[in-house]
Amino acid sequence: MTAAPCAEVLQDPAAEAAGRLARVIERGGHIALSGGATPRAAYERLAGMALDFSRATLWFGDERCVPPQDEQSNFAMVRAALLDRLQGSGPVVRRIEGERDPRAAAASYEQLLGEVFGEGMPELDLALMGLGPDAHTASLFPGQEALDERERLAVAVEEPGMEPWVSRVTLTLPVFNAAREVVFLAAGADKADAVARAFSGEQHRDAPASLVSPGSGSLTLLLDEAAAAKLPGAVEVSRR
Ligand code: 6PG
Repeated sequence: MTAAPCAEVLQDPAAEAAGRLARVIERGGHIALSGGATPRAAYERLAGMALDFSRATLWFGDERCVPPQDEQSNFAMVRAALLDRLQGSGPVVRRIEGERDPRAAAASYEQLLGEVFGEGMPELDLALMGLGPDAHTASLFPGQEALDERERLAVAVEEPGMEPWVSRVTLTLPVFNAAREVVFLAAGADKADAVARAFSGEQHRDAPASLVSPGSGSLTLLLDEAAAAKLPGAVEVSRR
């Protein structure tokens, strides 16, 4: 069984995600960002907020192994949606080097996390997670060996479970599960089945998001009505 998530069904879940990111940014916290179209909408909202970004650090939950200017790069997406739109000093950005061999990029990201957080599991203040229609999150795809990783902080994923069909680097479950706040953001009817499978209370390797279960941190789902349509009855829901 997983820790019960707190689900919020909202008109505009991306705006709520932006508000949560903003609170951590103002405190100068460490955030892991996600790729994907739904998280992108949150970054665009964030770009329009007058905030002091300068003390915050942005990490990436995963990256596609392409150069940082490639249209498939998660870093490129965050730069276009958020970083290039900021007026004042930006945050510290710790990107995954997608232009490198995925194993080398994973090792170097792990080293960077160690340098910043010290030994042991890093404690991110917030991990923003997307959700794929196959219930993957970050680049943790159904049934893959990355799901079994218990020691490493970042690993290579040579063959992703869905498009774009490029290798990935992903943070591992122990890193996400050590975060103080884990927020899943999902919108649209094509996510309803994945939401139901991931948050049924049972953990399965074929629904990787179900394996994200923070040890002492909080787990929040930000959903629109369509994505929440098949949410199991046992999940406590608040609507705004
Ligand atoms: C990525 C991701 C991935 C994403 C989900 C949801 O690199 O693609 O980090 O986990 O967040 O697939 O993406 P959408 O919002 O585009 O469906």
